[in-house]
This record gives sequence, structure tokens and C-alpha cells, in this order.
Amino acid sequence: MKILIIGGTGTIGEVVAAHFMDSDHILVGSRNHPELPVDITDTDSIQAILEKTAPVDALVCIAGEAKWAPLRDMSEADFHIGIQSKLMGQVNLARIGMDYLVPGGSITLSTGILADDPVLHTTSAAMVNGAIHSFVKAAALEMEQGCRINAVSLGVVEAAYEKYKAYFPGHPPIEMEEVARAYERAVKGRDNGRIIRVYH
Ligand SMILES: NC(=O)c1ccc[n+]([C@@H]2O[C@H](COP(=O)([O-])OP(=O)(O)OC[C@H]3O[C@@H](n4cnc5c(N)ncnc54)[C@H](OP(=O)(O)O)[C@@H]3O)[C@@H](O)[C@H]2O)c1
Repeated sequence: MKILIIGGTGTIGEVVAAHFMDSDHILVGSRNHPELPVDITDTDSIQAILEKTAPVDALVCIAGEAKWAPLRDMSEADFHIGIQSKLMGQVNLARIGMDYLVPGGSITLSTGILADDPVLHTTSAAMVNGAIHSFVKAAALEMEQGCRINAVSLGVVEAAYEKYKAYFPGHPPIEMEEVARAYERAVKGRDNGRIIRVYH
């Protein structure tokens, strides 16, 4: 399969790209990628990477940012960071990308545990994750030619545990093997409109 992974240079993306590398043709894009630069907050940039790489069997997004801060300190502009990047970046990637898939192809977006089980100072990230879950369920109804869309929703992953553990007291880190398998299920299984939750 030809799989385009946006954010495939990140902590999670790198592991997922490596997981598919032996069996599939992996293309990786990110803002700083030398060959396939893309910024999901910019629809022209999304269009440009798809024009360069399509058709693809699978479009996977493991990118998108949101500001973490106490609600009292969050301005409207702070909320817009997550709306523009993690939410609309992924929505636009799906909206534009659905026309660049082969029949039977798939789109996989990334969210996280905060949608169901938020921790302190994550109102924006929790909000956009929840919105993506609703988007995926509704968008799945409109996929054409056997195409599918799903989200992988992760708990705090082992490779990022040191960075985030203070926010997640008592949460067990998710093994990277389990993380990679969730993306494999989204890409190679038959799920559609599914939120593939990976947390205990
Ligand atoms: N780490 C966790 O435990 C965890 C748990 C649940 C969910 N998540 C979510 O999973 C996603 C990836 O997490 P991560 O820990 O792997 O993050 P990371 O290490 O910061 O990697 C982010 C990746 O996305 C790319 N990227 C960031 N903004 C982009 C943009 N606007 N357009 C295109 N590419 C962009 C980055 O490359 P460039 O800088 O070159 O653009 C990098 O490849 C995030 O949305 C995160 O919220 C993470």
C-alpha cells in the first residue's frame, strides 16, 4: 500500500512509519520535511502535498497542536490554536484528501484520551479531540467508493511519557507496539467511522 503519513517524523509518527516500512510504501510529510513539506493549517499546502503524492491507499495524520493551560488563562485566541491546527487541520486534510484516495482507500486521524477522560489544563485539546470524534462518525457516512475514515485515540504513549507524566498521574503509558497496531487496524482493517481507543 502507498501510505502518506503527515507527522511521520514525530514521536508517534516515526514509530508508526517504521511499523509499516517493511510491508508498504511509506511517504512522510511535515512542516519541516525537506522533500514533502506540509502545514495542515494551510489548505493550499494540503492540496500541494496531495497533488505530489496521490493517489494514495491511506492518508494518516499524526499531527496537530492545541494549547494546554488553565481555563482561566485561556484566551479565545488560545482556543483558536487547537481549532486551526488539530481540529480544522485534520478536518481539511480529510475533506480535501478524500478525493485523492484510491477506491477502498482510508483516512486515519489522531486524537486522544482527553476527549473521554480529560486531565487538568486540557480544555482546548479535550474539546478538539471530541469534535474530531463526532466529525469522523459523520464523515464516515459520506465516504464514497468503499473509502473509510477512522480516528486513533491514544492515551499517553510510552515514548512521550516523561514529557507528559506529570499531567497524567496514575495513567499507565501505552506501549509503542500497541500504538502502531492501532494505526495498522485503521489502515488495513475494515473499520469505518470508528474511534479506535488505545488506553486502559
Ligand atoms: N504523545 C502522546 O502521548 C499523545 C497521546 C495522544 C494523542 N497525541 C496526539 O498525537 C499527535 C502526535 O503526537 P506526538 O507526541 O507524536 O507529537 P510530536 O512528537 O510533536 O510530533 C508532531 C509531528 O507532527 C508534525 N506537525 C506538527 N504540526 C504540524 C502541522 N501544522 N502540519 C504538518 N505537520 C505538523 C511535526 O513535524 P514538523 O514540526 O516538521 O511539522 C511532527 O512530525 C498530536 O496531535 C498529539 O496531540 C499524542
